[in-house]
Order: sequence, then C-alpha cells, then structure tokens
Amino acid sequence: MPILELKGVTKEYGQGHTLVQALKPTDFQLEAGQFAAVIGPSGSGKTTFLTLLGQLQTPSEGQILLHGKDTSLLKEKQRADLRFNHFGFILQTSNLIPFLKIEDQFRLIDRLSKKDRLDLDSLIELLDLKGTLRQYPKELSGGERQRAAIARALYNSPDIILADEPTASLDTERAKRVVHLLKEVTQQYHKSVVMITHDTRLLNEVDKVYEMQDGVLTEIR
Ligand SMILES: Nc1ncnc2c1ncn2[C@@H]1O[C@H](COP(=O)(O)OP(=O)(O)OP(=O)(O)O)[C@@H](O)[C@H]1O
Ligand SMILES: [Mg+2]
Repeated sequence: MPILELKGVTKEYGQGHTLVQALKPTDFQLEAGQFAAVIGPSGSGKTTFLTLLGQLQTPSEGQILLHGKDTSLLKEKQRADLRFNHFGFILQTSNLIPFLKIEDQFRLIDRLSKKDRLDLDSLIELLDLKGTLRQYPKELSGGERQRAAIARALYNSPDIILADEPTASLDTERAKRVVHLLKEVTQQYHKSVVMITHDTRLLNEVDKVYEMQDGVLTEIR
C-alpha cells in the first residue's frame, strides 16, 4: 500500500473569470522509502501539489489517502495532528519560528512531540549547524536558515518529508550534501521524500522524477 496517494485530485483558486485550475485531475502514489522529485516551470502548480500532499490545504475534488485512509473528512484539528506527526516541511519561505533561537526550535518539538526523535547531535553535525544554535533565524544567512529548517523538519522523524526548493539558497556543494542527506534519511529510516527543485543536477540520487506543466503532473523517470 502506498504511504500517500492522490486520486483524481484537483485544485482551483478564485472563481468566475479569475478561476485558475492550478492542479488538473491528478493521480499520484508515494511508497514508503521512496524519494521523488518534481520539476517544472514557475507557476505550473508544484507548490500547490506539495501543499495538498501535506494537508496544508484541501483539494477542490478528489481524495488524498494517508496510510490508506481518506483525509478529506477530517476536522481541522485532526488535520493539524496529521501534519505534525506525519510530515516534515521544508518550504520556500523559511518555516522557522522568528522569536526562537535555533536550539529552542528543537526544544519546542521536544515538548510537543510524543514520538522518538532523530539524534539531534548527528543532525547538527550533518547540516553544519553548531555555530547557529544560540542565534535567532534573522541573524543567520539564507543558507544557514535553510539548513536549520531542514534539520527541524527531520528532527521529529516524520514519515514523509515535503521539500519546496530545499537547496535554493545553497551553493552546489551544500545542495548536493542536502540531497544526499535526504537520500540517506529515506534509506536508513525508511522515510519518503517529495522534493521540488529547479536544479536538474540534483536528480541522480532520486528514485522518481515528475514534471509539472500547467497543472498536469507527468512521470518522466
Ligand atoms: N492562494 C492562491 N490564490 C490564487 N492563485 C494561486 C494561489 N496559489 C497559487 N496560485 C496560482 O496557481 C498557479 C500555481 O501556483 P504554484 O505556487 O503552485 O506554482 P509553482 O509551480 O510552485 O511556482 P514557483 O516555481 O514559482 O514556486 C499559479 O498560476 C499561481 O498564480
Ligand atoms: Mg512554488
């Protein structure tokens, strides 16, 4: 059984003559341990697709199944619990909490989470974050902020990591390391990743590649 599945999912924004069909009817399956990438031009619907997967918004039509269970009838509180327990988000806008030092971003998860977390020292080591722990997000460079956001997304050991351009503000070497890290996480912990990227040089480590064009998702590898 796929860990996450879309059946005939669409997403429309606006209404009347301002109506945009950002996602055309889409079927998609993500298996446990699978690393999928989505490429495609700006405005084609990639973020829309990712936020639907992550229960950040609801589809206009169709069903989204998590571990085989339809999520469409859930109440907002249940949806929020699903998001916290199953998903790790690495979004285009940094999703760090502005008024918490980096170390406290992790402590907050310690307080909220009932699950086993990943080993924090290894995450900090792997993402080269030692020097940032006592700082606030606004005191970091774009790349440091991005790496801290990645560590925070991984720390609660989500089943599924959803990453929107996670390497956008990183140099090529760090970008490769981040993708390699995501790959390691899928293998060692049997997690799944869906990553949006513009950088086709980063695709050799992923299992499947999809392309989004005008709201149509096509598997290309
Ligand atoms: N909240 C919204 N309200 C209205 N239209 C929206 C909204 N979010 C996205 N859109 C529209 O839906 C389409 C797809 O947007 P989306 O953000 O999914 O694209 P994208 O592929 O992620 O682009 P980029 O690579 O620039 O991030 C665009 O035409 C966009 O203008
Ligand atoms: Mg986007």
